Amino acid sequence: MLTMRPATLDDVPILREWDSRPHIIAIMGDDDLSDWESELACTTQWQEPPWKWDFIAEVDGTPIGMVQIIDPHRETDHYWGDVAENLRAIDIWIGEVEYLGQGHGSVMMATALEFCYSDPDVTGVLIDPLASNARARKFYEQMGFEFVEYRTFGTDYCAVYQHTR
Ligand SMILES: CC(C)(COP(=O)(O)OP(=O)(O)OC[C@H]1O[C@@H](n2cnc3c(N)ncnc32)[C@H](O)[C@@H]1OP(=O)(O)O)[C@@H](O)C(=O)NCCC(=O)NCCS
Repeated sequence: MLTMRPATLDDVPILREWDSRPHIIAIMGDDDLSDWESELACTTQWQEPPWKWDFIAEVDGTPIGMVQIIDPHRETDHYWGDVAENLRAIDIWIGEVEYLGQGHGSVMMATALEFCYSDPDVTGVLIDPLASNARARKFYEQMGFEFVEYRTFGTDYCAVYQHTR
């Protein structure tokens, strides 16, 4: 059974390991590798900062992937630029290859969307796969996301999609 729990500093080794997997490197674009210690240091004080939520997905207790949710308006690096309030943005990945393509991603995303919309003010959810990530794009379309535009973040040419409550 798939469950999701808040990520903690104990997850740093597995997150680093997933970052080194070829199927993850292939979809990362030119983003710098995350400094997971710094990213997760705040998670020990759950919901601090109040614009970022990190989850580990587990199948029968085995960690398989990650879901990162931010409020793109309040996120301090302003990755999304000038963006409306009351949205969320999601990053999702399964690090364990043998768990790909078995429906786990769909459950992870459904759980993430439920979490986002548990805040009554949230009106929609953004995602930005590389334009070349055909598998993820098909996945998002199947989950009800609608294509908005192509947009370049840094040097990454991405396809922006939005899910609406
Ligand atoms: C994208 C991802 C989270 C989807 O999770 P998943 O568990 O593999 O997907 P699911 O098994 O739930 O499949 C859902 C849908 O995704 C699409 N999909 C899944 N595997 C696919 C494949 N090999 N090729 C094309 N589409 C595929 C299909 O539309 C599928 O629906 P279907 O089974 O009815 O055809 C996962 O593949 C992943 O982590 N990939 C690597 C990292 C990544 O690309 N993350 C997104 C970055 S923006």
